Amino acid sequence: MARALHLIARPAGTPKDTDFELRAREPAPLQDGQFRVTVKYLSIDPAMRVWMSEAKSYWPPVPLGEVMRAQGIGEIVESRNPKFAVGQWVSAMTGAQDEFIGEGKGAHAFDAKRLPHPGWALSVFGATGMTAYFGLTDIGQAKAGEVLVVSAAAGAVGSNVVQIGKALGMRVVGIAGGAEKCAFVKDKLGADAAIDYKNEDVGKALRQHCPEGIDVYFDNVGGEILDEVLKRLRLKARIVLCGGISQYNAEGGTRGPANYLSMISSRARMEGFVVIDYLHRAEEAIAAMAPWVAAGKLSSKLDIVEGLDNFAAALRRVYSGANFGKQLVQI
Ligand SMILES: NC(=O)c1ccc[n+]([C@@H]2O[C@H](COP(=O)([O-])OP(=O)(O)OC[C@H]3O[C@@H](n4cnc5c(N)ncnc54)[C@H](OP(=O)(O)O)[C@@H]3O)[C@@H](O)[C@H]2O)c1
Repeated sequence: MARALHLIARPAGTPKDTDFELRAREPAPLQDGQFRVTVKYLSIDPAMRVWMSEAKSYWPPVPLGEVMRAQGIGEIVESRNPKFAVGQWVSAMTGAQDEFIGEGKGAHAFDAKRLPHPGWALSVFGATGMTAYFGLTDIGQAKAGEVLVVSAAAGAVGSNVVQIGKALGMRVVGIAGGAEKCAFVKDKLGADAAIDYKNEDVGKALRQHCPEGIDVYFDNVGGEILDEVLKRLRLKARIVLCGGISQYNAEGGTRGPANYLSMISSRARMEGFVVIDYLHRAEEAIAAMAPWVAAGKLSSKLDIVEGLDNFAAALRRVYSGANFGKQLVQI
């Protein structure tokens, strides 16, 4: 029997186990052009909370009763498509299920043996790495010598942004929750400074670590931290609106930036982006990042939770900050 996790309720606040239902079904026979994938790992993305809701987004809400949307990787076990051979690993929007039937569109084969872990196809060499690379270089217009501040700096996207910023010759200040994550941001990722937003006054720490101001802010969290950064912008600063995780579970409205008028005098720009708009340029990002990976300047820490039935629990980890690295579910 194949198992799939169906979305059965729109969450109120943080997603609950009861928002999902695990259902079993008979595996369907393959048609010409199709291939069957045994899904091995699922990517857990903070935006899933948005996809579970009715909110207008770059993708429509997951319909109630449908399999939960998720990017996954796995091995082809049966194929009636000449371009996808049995034994190959593929990355695709598999959904939260242990078996996926693909037809080719949106599926990418990759050589898992060339990666330190297959999960890297969902982290640095997947949407996570693309988000970090294009957000920083294209939206952030990052330049050597500039000051970069990154929030959720110990997380999947943030840790790649810190490392890419350093590889580009920037001065990098990472913001993360707790002493252990801050030590990781400085000592392992190579940031020039780390700010523990759970135990430090972020405004004061930004004044200390960015005395001349901030050129690029890579925003993963929104909320109060964004407001503190807005007070310290340099002339022509760029704010990369990647995510707003501090607001995703908020009930009763999103907190907007109170200090946005500082962008007038600093002639700053704030721009949102979605990584799917850059997928056609994936080869360009991989060509830029592969030498950094080979040189040990860019890597991915994975945080793996076992079992499809722990999907909701794994998702809650990214909102509480329990995850330390790219959150995956292993099936
Ligand atoms: N625009 C795009 O195309 C795109 C693509 C991918 C991801 N994203 C966004 O990028 C951000 C990071 O995603 P990710 O997959 O890399 O997740 P992640 O950073 O690995 O995990 C989320 C982290 O956010 C931090 N966090 C949670 N609540 C917070 C709060 N209230 N205030 C400050 N920090 C908080 C936690 O770290 P601490 O322990 O440090 O608090 C947690 O570990 C998310 O906002 C996501 O939606 C955007």
